[in-house]
Amino acid sequence: MDVGPRCSFVIFGITGDLAARKLVPALYALHIDGALHPQTAVVGFARSAPDDDEQLRERLGEALREHVDEVDDDAWNDLATRIVSVRGGYDEAGFERLRERLDALGHDDHVYYTSTPPEAYTPIVHGLAGVGLTRSERGFRRIVVEKPFGHDLDSAVELNAALAEVFDEDQIYRIDHYLAKETAQNLAVLRFANALFEPIWSNRYVDHVQISMIEPMGMEGRGSFYEEAGVVRDVFQNHLLQLLALVAMEPPARYDADAVRDEKVKVLRATDCLDPGDVVLGQYTAADGMAGYREEDGVAADSRVPTFAAAAFTVRTWRWAGVPFYVRAGKRLEGKASEIVLRLKQPPHQPFTELAAPPKADRLVLRLLPDEGIALRFNAKVPGQGIALDRVNLGFTYREGFEGRVPDAYETLLSDVITGDATLFMRADEVVAQWRVVAPLLAPPEVDPEPYPAGSMGPLSANTLLERDGRNWHKPGGV
Ligand code: BG6
Repeated sequence: MDVGPRCSFVIFGITGDLAARKLVPALYALHIDGALHPQTAVVGFARSAPDDDEQLRERLGEALREHVDEVDDDAWNDLATRIVSVRGGYDEAGFERLRERLDALGHDDHVYYTSTPPEAYTPIVHGLAGVGLTRSERGFRRIVVEKPFGHDLDSAVELNAALAEVFDEDQIYRIDHYLAKETAQNLAVLRFANALFEPIWSNRYVDHVQISMIEPMGMEGRGSFYEEAGVVRDVFQNHLLQLLALVAMEPPARYDADAVRDEKVKVLRATDCLDPGDVVLGQYTAADGMAGYREEDGVAADSRVPTFAAAAFTVRTWRWAGVPFYVRAGKRLEGKASEIVLRLKQPPHQPFTELAAPPKADRLVLRLLPDEGIALRFNAKVPGQGIALDRVNLGFTYREGFEGRVPDAYETLLSDVITGDATLFMRADEVVAQWRVVAPLLAPPEVDPEPYPAGSMGPLSANTLLERDGRNWHKPGGV
């Protein structure tokens, strides 16, 4: 990893959950790896931030120990001495106070991270501009915008416009942590650094693609957020469409931020799901001692917000004509898995006429969770006389294939912001293209979503969506 420049890393919303769970652990891990400049300052800003730096350091230290297994006290204390607390609201007085602290630190380069509720994003942009913190002759000023980026197409366009009033596009880093998962990054390498895969990566050989994000958790205190978001805004508009784009995009001329994002935008603009029959929405109900969605804190007793969605997307390009992309995600499902499956077509001619049934089609599984890796499942001859076939696997996992720890997505992303690499961040036109793709899935529901028992594999109609095409979902977590 590159050691970035000496900078002030400002976290708006330092007292929130994301800062405790992801951002501070990521900064600590970068510090341990020697990937943070030793004079980097972390400036925590929040209405509820303590007045005293020492108190914030203690609080963040406690949170770090809760979320990271082994904390090296000396390393943490070293980083902690460079944590600064700024208590303030998102008003002029608050930003003045921030400016004074930043001036006193004297770093040329600043990163601003919006780890706040989305209502604060625009006030932060204006507040920073109001006190002259968005431009500098001497160093960079970069802003990281967390998801959700807007609530729908119009609000995303407005947020882009608010940012563009103050920042140039190359100062803006829109986060989608799925892009920094190793398997997501590896998609480009798998496709474009090997001669084996890209030749089959099209409608000539691929029958269909499945992208699944299966989560066992319920709301865990996020009920009121989820009432506004639902599964489509929470993970379809961003994580799942990003994976779709990485699978479906054309080879970029270079692996850099603009070339990669140009290709993703092109393919997203060619993607849609316009037929309501191609969408299944579901909501979990109480089962096995687990509460139903409507019983969760912060959720309306008659809520129609979907906690599960499955959809068949069409990618209208030469490469993908006739290849459906089935995408599904849900909460309170059986197991935890995020994966992409390419199901290949049958070979054009079948010489093994004595087999009782035709061989099964090959399957390439790209696993983001659990245990990131790749598996290819194909047919092999069973040893012995005559021809009998069985299924075998070729596979690799990061755990076995590479020594060392797989960095958390946030570590990669924070380091990229500091070093100025925007390849794993979304560009303005990309988020807009994503909102356009999911717009038909966001229409206010006229009926309740289909119920499914907590801990199951989701609503039955999700199976029908594939069965009608003579296909079925791959069992997540398997090969
Ligand atoms: C977040 C969603 O963006 O991603 C959550 O808001 C979801 O609802 C999470 O649980 C999943 O991330 P991961 O890395 O655990 O797959």
